[in-house]
Amino acid sequence: MSAKTAVSAANNERGDGRAWHHAAADRDKARPRPHEVTVKQLAGKIIAVEGIDQAGKQTVCAWLAAELRAQGVQTEQTGFPDYATPLGHEITAFLRGEREYPAEARQLLYAANRWERETELRAWLTEGRAIVVDRYSASGIAYGAAQGLDMTWMLQVEQGLPLADLTILLDITPDVSLSRKTTARDAYENRLDLLANARAAYHELAKAPGWLVVDAATDRDTVRARVLAALQVHLGTA
Ligand code: TMP
Repeated sequence: MSAKTAVSAANNERGDGRAWHHAAADRDKARPRPHEVTVKQLAGKIIAVEGIDQAGKQTVCAWLAAELRAQGVQTEQTGFPDYATPLGHEITAFLRGEREYPAEARQLLYAANRWERETELRAWLTEGRAIVVDRYSASGIAYGAAQGLDMTWMLQVEQGLPLADLTILLDITPDVSLSRKTTARDAYENRLDLLANARAAYHELAKAPGWLVVDAATDRDTVRARVLAALQVHLGTA
């Protein structure tokens, strides 16, 4: 199965589409009036920011978390890989080329690194906090698909983690990624073929409901404005 077909199959398999359509219908009933334009609806939700390396994810995460807090939403900002954990140290080692693992072992390390934080993520959601996360399971799937890993297997190891409610894909080409960081690129960043495959896999994943795709090959202010506009359309507040 090609990465593209596999990602499409995975989208159907998860049943996200159906669940999302029901959620969307409920949300429509509670659609806020225009003067209530707010990102407050993101309280208690996971907002994942995704994209290939140097897409501008950190900047958008920081801005979005600040925006949520400014509107009174208790917000946690986090990201994966979480390099601070024991498994995070292992991930650092292979990204620096100090350790070698087969692709499957790397995939499991990335997923296990998310599982290390599962209890904490759930606690935050229970408290009604918004979680802005710089890379989440979709990074695992996109980069894993880019390396030809089996989709069903990849989804199984992610299964049980809290799902992202909304995923913002900051879209750039590998050439733009390279132009934004020309030196000290890690083992993955150096492989433009991998980045191209990951970008293609992201585009397939983004066909599922709950994804916003933003052209991020421009300056920060424009990207921020585009993300805000896409969010407003998505939240029904535009
Ligand atoms: P970072 O540059 O965002 O810290 O991520 C380091 C690399 O790890 C990046 O090239 C993407 C890759 N990655 C995966 O392959 N799978 C994953 O699950 C995650 C979170 C990152």
